[in-house]
Amino acid sequence: MRGNEETVQVNDAAADTTAGVLRDLEPSVGRLLDRHLGVAREWFPHQYVPWSGARDFDGPLDGTAWDPRQSALPQAVQDALLVNLLTEDNLPSYHFEIATRFGRDGAWGTWVHRWTAEEDRHACVMRAYVHARRAMDPVALEELRMRQVGAGYRSDLPTVLHALAYVTVQELATRQAHRNVGVMCGDPVGEQLMARIAADENLHMLFYRDLYADALRMAPDAALTALTDVICGFQMPGTTIPGFRARALRVAAAGIFDLDVHSEHVVRPLLRALGVMSLPGLGPAGEQARQRLGQHLEWLRAQASRARELYERMNASGGPGRSRTRTQEVTA
Ligand SMILES: [Fe+2]
Ligand SMILES: [Fe+2]
Repeated sequence: MRGNEETVQVNDAAADTTAGVLRDLEPSVGRLLDRHLGVAREWFPHQYVPWSGARDFDGPLDGTAWDPRQSALPQAVQDALLVNLLTEDNLPSYHFEIATRFGRDGAWGTWVHRWTAEEDRHACVMRAYVHARRAMDPVALEELRMRQVGAGYRSDLPTVLHALAYVTVQELATRQAHRNVGVMCGDPVGEQLMARIAADENLHMLFYRDLYADALRMAPDAALTALTDVICGFQMPGTTIPGFRARALRVAAAGIFDLDVHSEHVVRPLLRALGVMSLPGLGPAGEQARQRLGQHLEWLRAQASRARELYERMNASGGPGRSRTRTQEVTA
């Protein structure tokens, strides 16, 4: 999984420039792109949608209007699905972000376009599933999509290493979010679909994670500082969705995605896989970043513990109910 040794002849000074990072990581991008294309399995979104249970809606087809009683999904699962779907919907902004940062030429460009093509399936197939199952209000969903995509998304991350660190964490978090929604949706068709999407996210995460491992070997101080900055300030891109805080609270209380998941199934496995705590060759800046990261992990664990107590009190007083059935495996 590591880059060949000749790609690691770069110092931290070169990593200060976007052009330097992109140029020096390009051989790794080519290698990981080839690996990705070799393992990514072709799949067809239309095969995952339960069309036989679908009905026409009101409007031009004069069908049946949506009613909240038609949804079989628990409220917290609806909240999580909505946030995940609207997050996927903002793909045009994400494409712009990575195309302008990583470029559209050579191996970087091939990856950017391939990744975009794969991601484009996710919102399409999730929306088709939601409509076929009448899982949530289709009018509210469309109004929110227009608002979300209309507002766009920009990360404002300072360097290309920060952008790479962000997508590494984000792909892993997204994998967990989709997978846990599937496990808790109570619908085998939905679970199969979410697992299929999560498998895509897993391969995206592996691409970025192993690319970042090369960045850490090439420019340990700059790469570890960027990774630490991103992890300490990490937010999913869906935080601008209207009502996000209330939805996120219900999603967390139900155990679908909370600080425990973020800490134990996203951040810690990623840092372990990258060997951050035993990374050689760090200078003062890298050592300072590693120390900051250690403090953040402790803070995260304490926050997760406090949040867990809050959710238990919420659930004991008739809240959404916390499930322990979510996926526990750690593959990062
Ligand atoms: Fe996706
Ligand atoms: Fe992805």
